[in-house]
Amino acid sequence: MKKVQKARLIAALAVVCCAAAAVAQKKPESVIHYRQSVMDMIGWNFAPLGAMVKGKVAFDANEFALHTQRIEFLGPQVLEGFEKGSDKGAETDAKAEIWTHFDDFQTRLDDFIDASKALDEAARSGDEARMKEQFKKTAATCKACHDKYRAE
Ligand code: HEC
Repeated sequence: MKKVQKARLIAALAVVCCAAAAVAQKKPESVIHYRQSVMDMIGWNFAPLGAMVKGKVAFDANEFALHTQRIEFLGPQVLEGFEKGSDKGAETDAKAEIWTHFDDFQTRLDDFIDASKALDEAARSGDEARMKEQFKKTAATCKACHDKYRAE
């Protein structure tokens, strides 16, 4: 192997090694903080939908679609916040059962992700009744997970 090639190979290996090390170095407290932030953002965007569905504020289809789009974007990012080893390390309401029943937890998360996709589709259909109906179905997926895996 030529000297230059060898140097390049070593440099490439160094990048691979250190990227892997950076992933392994994620602190449990950062993971916990991340999942709480994502949940907070989901909640932040879910609240105005609830207010519209309950008639507390005037229904606005554009406003509705803005929030459903954000929720749909956040759903697939939740899983990273429940990495193994993040059961403790900071104050958390996540129950230990998450990690002992991870398949079930993930099924409930997938139900939420599917529901939030359908919610965003409903928002884009312009059909207000469909939006309200799908909002309720989505809210049920939050509850289905919180009831089992989130401390009071
Ligand atoms: C698959 C499970 C799951 C789903 C689905 C889910 N959550 Fe959560 N949520 C949790 C867990 C677990 C916590 C506790 C996280 C912690 O304290 O570390 C939480 C915490 C929260 C919090 C508090 C965040 C904080 O600051 O501590 C809010 C707000 C929230 N969820 C809103 C929602 C809303 C709204 C939905 C549905 C649109 C939803 N969640 C769907 C599991 C879920």
